[in-house]
Amino acid sequence: MKADDSLRPARLADFIGQDDLRANLEVFLHAARERSRPLDHTLFYGNPGLGKTTLARILASELGVNIVSTSGPVLERPRDLAAILSNLGRHDILFVDEVHRMPVAVEEVLYPALEDFTIDIIVGEGPGARSVRIGIEPFTLVGATTRIGLLSSPLRDRFGVIQRLEFYQPDDLARVVERTASIIGLEVTREAALAIGARARGTPRIANRLLRRVRDFAHVDGRESVDADSASAALDRLDVDPLGLDQMDRAILKMLIEQFQGGPVGIKTLAVGLSEEVRTLEEIYEPFLIQSGFIKRTPRGRVATAKAYQHMNMI
Ligand SMILES: Nc1ncnc2c1ncn2[C@@H]1O[C@H](COP(=O)(O)OP(=O)(O)O)[C@@H](O)[C@H]1O
Ligand SMILES: [Mg+2]
Repeated sequence: MKADDSLRPARLADFIGQDDLRANLEVFLHAARERSRPLDHTLFYGNPGLGKTTLARILASELGVNIVSTSGPVLERPRDLAAILSNLGRHDILFVDEVHRMPVAVEEVLYPALEDFTIDIIVGEGPGARSVRIGIEPFTLVGATTRIGLLSSPLRDRFGVIQRLEFYQPDDLARVVERTASIIGLEVTREAALAIGARARGTPRIANRLLRRVRDFAHVDGRESVDADSASAALDRLDVDPLGLDQMDRAILKMLIEQFQGGPVGIKTLAVGLSEEVRTLEEIYEPFLIQSGFIKRTPRGRVATAKAYQHMNMI
């Protein structure tokens, strides 16, 4: 995660792409500042690497408040969350990553906190134990999830703002590459940035990762700057094809086409065949393959499209 941190934009104006979302956030930030109220509880959802954590931090820095970061699976016991909530300062942001993975008992502590800024804590032990309601500072919950469908509806309903992050356009990814290149002190041509962006599966984190690998190849070859040809050559060596598919993506399509005659085939069967976890297929690989039209999801399973057949014969 450290590699991500040094590259995170700190202000909303430096966050590239996602124009509608950015415009909405400007309005909500403005309203919160004008009324001296905490920002409404905000949920970001979308694929890994699209900027959810970055946005949570941007909200805190734009509002000049502290951000306390945790994640659903880390919050094992209700009292873990109660301790965090009771320590929040006025208008602070509590960022909960993978918010769909919070245990139910922990979620229940959150509900009164979100609604009236109160929590119920247990005082004493054994038969003398009783529940006491205490007030906490007004705060903002910022949740992030890759799987909005797995969020309980009472929790989802308590977010005043729900924003989806889309895959990025090639031009935006080229800007991400250019920005990162200037931070790490590498010269890249516009064409090279576009070539890297085109293979980044619509995802800034992947664009940054590819850029680092391209830089490694440039160093080994003793070059100070990267042009389109050297970028493409490096990406070929990394086994990232011109549409951004990596070995795993191609293995998925190959299995669908060769072993299952193009489908439909269930995700569990695919996962077993590929020795991969269902969750990894669903959260990392499938969304991009579906979005770029290589796979269709049908009630009876996954199906390879004509584009998948074309692409797999082509390479
Ligand atoms: N819109 C953007 N502009 C610039 N860099 C971005 C943008 N979105 C994401 N990044 C970069 O991509 C990396 C992954 O972003 P992150 O916020 O950790 O994604 P997520 O939390 O959705 O998995 C970070 O290094 C971040 O700086
Ligand atoms: Mg994140």
